[in-house]
Amino acid sequence: MSQIESNKQLESRRILLIIGGGIAAYRSLDLIRRMRDRGWTVKTILTRSAVEFVTPLSVAALSENTVHLELLSLTEESKMGHIELARWAEAIVVAPATANLMARVAVGMADDLATTVLLATNRPILMAPSMNLEMWGNSATRHNHALLQGRGMEFVGPDSGDLACGEYGAGRLAEVPEIIAAIDRILHRHLTASSLAHKRFLITAGATREAIDPVRYISNHSSGKQGYALALALRNAGAEVILVSGITTLPAPAGIKTLAVTSAREMLSACLEQLPVDGAICTAAVADWRVAEAAPQKIKKIRDQQTLTLELVQNPDILATLSHHPSRPDLVIGFAAESESLIANAKIKLAAKGCDWIIANDIAANGAVFGSDYNQVAIITAAGVESLPQMTKLEVANHITQRIISHFNPAGGVK
Ligand code: CTP
Repeated sequence: MSQIESNKQLESRRILLIIGGGIAAYRSLDLIRRMRDRGWTVKTILTRSAVEFVTPLSVAALSENTVHLELLSLTEESKMGHIELARWAEAIVVAPATANLMARVAVGMADDLATTVLLATNRPILMAPSMNLEMWGNSATRHNHALLQGRGMEFVGPDSGDLACGEYGAGRLAEVPEIIAAIDRILHRHLTASSLAHKRFLITAGATREAIDPVRYISNHSSGKQGYALALALRNAGAEVILVSGITTLPAPAGIKTLAVTSAREMLSACLEQLPVDGAICTAAVADWRVAEAAPQKIKKIRDQQTLTLELVQNPDILATLSHHPSRPDLVIGFAAESESLIANAKIKLAAKGCDWIIANDIAANGAVFGSDYNQVAIITAAGVESLPQMTKLEVANHITQRIISHFNPAGGVK
């Protein structure tokens, strides 16, 4: 799709805005005005507490559309109103998203119109949180934030600044132009979603586990989050995704064929069975070594023996094997966790493994990469290096997905 075509389509979009009950709710009025300026059709849902902060009348006047308030409206419900609303929208924006609303969505409640629509939709959801800084920093909210991101919901903000409660810190609703830009990105991606519709992607993720004996093993700290985020982002872009997952505590993502493996050798054979594919992305932290021969019984401690020597042999390199395979995928991407000379080492790895791109992250600069929801990466290709700022792993995944779309549709005008 050309840039002009997609810009044109962006002009007539259908947005459902859910206004939560927080002090920042009044700013949703400006958001509605800016969306209308762009020619978008805006429908709104006000939660029960939102009505305490903005009047349905002003929302109706600005959106030039009906405001939806309650789940059980006779006229609406006779047409299955909430399902229709969920389907009508091309994207759903929650602004402000309060801690309470995020929590109710996180546990899958459907006790009012807003949560019912959010549970019933398969459309992209953007949340713009706003709350007191302690509430935003509370581990319950952190947990819900990560959970919702893991399910594919996107977030804009909150920004740092003066808060309505008189304190200073993270919790301010993102600025309206920021929210509009985030909606633009989602819609643009949605328009280009069909670009990967007939493409198959193989993703390795998580840690491998190599048995020493029936109770002990060699492994590492990989959480699998970046690989799982990529699986979601590629699926959202219309691709068929096969996720070959090592050890992780993450739930298998909906709509994605997930093959659970334990060792590097199992991971390799699961990957080879899936060929041919159009793209392969190796995010897994594969143990480089395994014990030459795992003991069939638990190794007993011998009292006088102060040391124990284990003979290790190298595991197969899955990324290199896929890169040199006769059915080599069109695009092979590897990851590199480096602690020094990031770009130089990543370029060496690109050549050594024979892949097309390396996504490099500096584990020295980002001490918390393992297990964290954030990542800071550089994308290294034959054409050059693109360094990205720190962002969530889902945002990194979306960015890489956009690059993949451009790779497969070079004339598509997608950046
Ligand atoms: N990888 C793989 N199979 C292996 C080892 C690594 O598929 N046996 C993949 C990883 O999934 C990642 C990339 O190779 O995409 C880089 O892995 P890394 O561990 O950084 O590279 P190594 O070759 O192990 O180099 P080093 O440990 O010396 O940095």
